[in-house]
Amino acid sequence: MSATLLRGGRLVPGGDADVLVRDGRVAEVGTGLAAGRAEVVDCAGLVVSPGFVDLHVHLREPGREDAETIRTGSRAAALGGFTAVCPMPNTDPPADNAGVVEMVAARGREVGLVDLFPVGAVTLARRGTELAELGAMARSAAAVDTFSDDGSPIREARLLRRALEYARAFGAVIADHCEDVSLTEDAQMHEGELSGLLGLRGWPAAAEDMIVARDLMLAELTGGRLHLCHLSTAGAVELVRSAKARGVRVTAEVTPHHLSLTDAALTRYDPVFKVNPPLRGKADVEALRAGLADGTIDAVATDHAPHAREAKEVELAQAPPGMLGLETALAVLLTDLVEPGWLTIDQAIERLTSGPARCRSLPGHGGPITPGAPANLTVFDPAARWTVRPEALASRSRNTPFAGRELHGRVRHTLLRGRFSVRDGAVTDGGEP
Ligand code: DOR
Ligand code: ZN
Repeated sequence: MSATLLRGGRLVPGGDADVLVRDGRVAEVGTGLAAGRAEVVDCAGLVVSPGFVDLHVHLREPGREDAETIRTGSRAAALGGFTAVCPMPNTDPPADNAGVVEMVAARGREVGLVDLFPVGAVTLARRGTELAELGAMARSAAAVDTFSDDGSPIREARLLRRALEYARAFGAVIADHCEDVSLTEDAQMHEGELSGLLGLRGWPAAAEDMIVARDLMLAELTGGRLHLCHLSTAGAVELVRSAKARGVRVTAEVTPHHLSLTDAALTRYDPVFKVNPPLRGKADVEALRAGLADGTIDAVATDHAPHAREAKEVELAQAPPGMLGLETALAVLLTDLVEPGWLTIDQAIERLTSGPARCRSLPGHGGPITPGAPANLTVFDPAARWTVRPEALASRSRNTPFAGRELHGRVRHTLLRGRFSVRDGAVTDGGEP
């Protein structure tokens, strides 16, 4: 394989350094490296970081290829700077057995733009009644180490307890979508002053906080490893903070949209802003930002949730929840968190790389950029300004909540094991759908 010298960039973490990539691995890191026969890529003014890791995406294959496929989702991921993403099991059929997780992983390898680490379902068909064969998925070729019924919570405490105990036996993680569904039926948005004014059924913060509290207690009881998906409330952040202080084995993620937008986005009843959990109030957003900054929240995960145009262009009450995230994650973090001073750029990158890599096993991803490591790298221009145009996204769907916004920061190159998956802002696969 050929060699590439990324010259003159700023490593995060680190500082100004060249990176020599050879045979898919980082060969050398240092200043003034000799190019030899390597192709030189000028990275002056650019940031070189470990490839981004997304713990939470919906790629819709199998079953909803009208909304996204593993190919279109992989293209979106690579353009967003991701080298590893974790597809959730709420597909059709659901990923509740070795066959489906192996199919997803194999299709990801065939596309070859990003490594897929499929999440298996905790319960059969995500129905919440019987445990799925976690062991068979773990032993399968997909080597699943994280299980979730995402889209739905694990409703029964008894089943969550058993899942945590069982997963503990083979070092796996249970990731929960924290929602007490008895409090959220027909909810369209965050329950607060605005939902009252707009006349929309609300999703109270307590519906999240109660399940987070329950889950933390069961993690403590079992000693199992718990991961909490897409935190959205100040209460949840505080519960995780105190559980971590007690030594509970818990990790947590937050989405760019929950860090950047509030329930005020729903004022025009636009279904593009409907998401589960819902966009919250300003105090919640500030608590999430603070929790991300102090490490209570380990990772930014997009919850990239494509929905076909016909599905979203209906009345709010009929629209499915979910929004795109892969192609805008970095820029939203840089624009709305780093620029106003909530996070340093190093912290933002940590929450997209080593932070998520701590939450589960993702061999070869999350950094550090060190000789011998697989060359999974992202090179971005922190100063580039661009306007989000839904029709220009690589995702098969268009449901971005950031349409028309000018954002700062754009991925220039993404390298997966030393090979460019994105080069000069374009995917290298020839553009097949
Ligand atoms: O908004 C959401 N969309 N939240 C979820 O938990 C599931 C996801 C989806 O699959 O569309
Ligand atoms: Zn979810």
